[in-house]
Parts: sequence; structure tokens; C-alpha cells
Amino acid sequence: MADEPLILGIETSCDETGVGIVRGHTLLADALASSVEEHARFGGVVPEVASRAHLEAIVPTMDRALAEAGVTIADIDAIAVTSGPGLAGALLVGVAAAKGYAVAAEKPVYGVNHLAAHVAVDTLEHGPLPEPAIALLVSGGHSSLLLVDDLARGVTPLGSTIDDAAGEAFDKVARLLGLPFPGGPWIDREARAGDPGAIGFPRGLTAAKDLAAHRYDFSFSGLKTAVARWVEARQRAGEPVPVADVAASFQEAVCDVLVGKALDACRTNGVETLVIGGGVAANSRLRAMAEHRAAKQGVRVRVPRPKLCTDNGAMVAALGSHLVASGVAPSRLDLPADSAMPLTVVSV
Ligand code: KG4
Ligand code: ZN
Repeated sequence: MADEPLILGIETSCDETGVGIVRGHTLLADALASSVEEHARFGGVVPEVASRAHLEAIVPTMDRALAEAGVTIADIDAIAVTSGPGLAGALLVGVAAAKGYAVAAEKPVYGVNHLAAHVAVDTLEHGPLPEPAIALLVSGGHSSLLLVDDLARGVTPLGSTIDDAAGEAFDKVARLLGLPFPGGPWIDREARAGDPGAIGFPRGLTAAKDLAAHRYDFSFSGLKTAVARWVEARQRAGEPVPVADVAASFQEAVCDVLVGKALDACRTNGVETLVIGGGVAANSRLRAMAEHRAAKQGVRVRVPRPKLCTDNGAMVAALGSHLVASGVAPSRLDLPADSAMPLTVVSV
């Protein structure tokens, strides 16, 4: 609706410089510049390289978003920016830019939590989020299960990874299979030709003895090591590595644990909505498995389209829009870039 506030969102927590513009739940622009290719040869994101790339990309990306939406900065009602968690130097670029634009154009600014933004982005595709909901956030930097009872004011963390993030496990396993970085999409593609039941890889923190302390936590480093040992044994025996079968079996193990724990959280909390976000939510097997198993349990799964699952500015704008609509006060102009921002804080 034309009378809803126009919100601009800035995201720079990792390797994507994103600027999104929304009106209510309507996405008007989603401009993105990625430094992923500059990190590829290192097999992971290099913080200094990411910060420098943000610095170069932020103004052009801002201009592109405004042009795409057909508005000027004067038309914007509020600016939202990722305050944390993320890479300190990278966050600083976005936060400084947001403050600069806010002061110059006399706009309120909201410093927001990146993880809550991953949840909020789904409203651009599926409308208002029924609360309470369970959110499963899986990316290269985070793997968390949250109970979302009031997205504007606070979410309850249920569990998270105790070692590697899910996306990190995809990237590391892809690397040992000789696939490019980032490896998630490559594993996804290879797995289509493989047998998910070919190799029985371990499901971390699902044994009865682990459930008492880690019911909603994840662990992927044991799985990654199991894949490495399996591949090495093949190579030592001089046998070819069946890449498609390894990819499919590994992917099945990750998805099995993610979906199992997310649906367990829905069941124990009496929740009927599961939102999945983060780069790994683009995984085709995760989406299919979640839909299939959730349907049997009467749970509705909401997963935004892949472009909204990975880091972008629209997600920050979507959360900003929700905060404004909920009457939450803006942040102070000295808002921090907080690399370790806790999940319980939605906006600063
Ligand atoms: O959310 P995101 O863009 O950035 C972070 O905050 O990390 O997530 C990137 C991660 C990478 O680890 C990448 O390999 C993974 O998401 N990813 C996937 C797929 N597409 C991206 N993992 C599995 N399957 C995919 N199709
Ligand atoms: Zn993210």
C-alpha cells in the first residue's frame, strides 16, 4: 500500500554488500555486490578483503537500489542496517554508511540483528509470519534454531552449532571432493546423480546420550571428518571416489539432522510454522525433505526463494519495516557494529 513506510536496508556482515528497499511487505529493490570470487582461492571469506570490497561497493550499490525502486533518499522513511553479528570490519562499513546517509538525509536509523533479518525476509514472499514460529537458520556463518514469539522484540535461542556451521561443512566437504568454493551449490548439483543411502555417514548430536544436553544443538565437524576418512581410504586403495554418492550421502546426513531437530522443536513447543533461512536453505534436498516430513506432522514450512535466503539488503529492510510497523523506537546515532551481537537482541 502506498501509505506504508518506505524502508531501506543495508547488509555488510559477510561478503555480500546488499541494499534493499521495501514498502510494507513489498520488495521494491534488492541490489547486491558480492566479493565471493575474491575469496574463492582461499577457500573461505577473508575478512580484510571483504571489508575493502564493501567500501568500494557500498555507494554504487546504494545508488543502484534507489534507481531500481525509482525513489530518492529523500523519499525513504527509515534506514535499517545490520549491526551484528558478523565480521567486525565488514559490519563497520555498513553501519558507518547507514549513519552517514541518516545524518545527511535526516532519517531515523535502526541497527538490527542479521539472524532476525534472515527470518523477517520471508514476509516479503509469504506475508506476515504467524507467531510463534520455529526458525532454522543455516548458512556459512551460522546454524541456529530459534523460537520466534515476537520478531520485533526478541527471539528465544533454542540451540546452535557447537563447531562448524552447516554451510561451512558443505564448503569443506566440497573442497575435499575437488569442487569449487562456495561448495554448497556444487554438492547440491552433484548429489542429484548420487545415491543418498550409499554411505551411512554419522548424524551428529542425535544419539540418546547427546540429547539431554544438546537436543537442539548441531555438530558437523565429526561428519566432515568421517567424509574425509572415507575419501582417503578410497584413495589409498587406489579406487576412484564416487563423488555423486559421497555428496548425496553427506547432504542426506546434514539435512536429516537439520530437519529432525527443527521438527522436534516444533513438536515440543506446539508450533505449526517452520521458517528456514540462510544460504543452506537454498539446498534442494533440505527444502524437499522439510516439506515432506513437516506435512506428516501438520507443520507448514516457509522457505523464501533462494536469492532471498542468502545474505542481501532486502532482509534487513524487511526487518526494519516490521520494527517500524510494530512501533519500535529507532536506534541512537552512536549504534555499534557488534560482531558478537546476541540473538536475543533484535534491534539496538
Ligand atoms: O547466508 P549465506 O549467503 O552467507 C553466510 O552468512 O554465510 O550462506 C552461504 C553458505 C555457503 O556455505 C554456501 O556453500 C551455502 O550457503 N549454500 C548452500 C547452497 N547454496 C548456498 N549449501 C547447500 N546447498 C545449496 N544449494
Ligand atoms: Zn547470513
